[in-house]
Amino acid sequence: MRVSSNVLFADYAGTRACEKCHSDKVQTWLASPMHNMTREPTVADVKGPFDGTTFHFKDDTARLETKNGHASSRSSRRNSARARTKSRA
Ligand code: HEC
Repeated sequence: MRVSSNVLFADYAGTRACEKCHSDKVQTWLASPMHNMTREPTVADVKGPFDGTTFHFKDDTARLETKNGHASSRSSRRNSARARTKSRA
């Protein structure tokens, strides 16, 4: 099986598919901010300081910025090539 997407709602069974047998887990999941992750930024409620704020963790640096109206993050690791991801938020 070749996976081509993991961000669309249709890519998942959906939380409610688990509820019948795992209702306690489902309630905990729905109360957690984790259930908002793995979304397309066009439909997600994207929160973050996309104003050039830079975060550092160990050797990694991530800079959140807005370019041409699009939220963008640029990450780099000391002594390695830069990686860049863009979202359409
Ligand atoms: C028809 C009932 C049923 C449904 C629906 C169901 N499960 Fe389960 N699930 C079980 C049973 C029974 C077990 C085994 C529980 C045990 O061993 O204690 C289990 C075990 C699990 C485990 C392993 C738990 C552990 O501690 O090892 C995970 C993870 C899990 N289910 C996830 C899901 C997810 C995610 C969904 C929805 C997409 C789902 N299940 C839907 C019945 C169901």
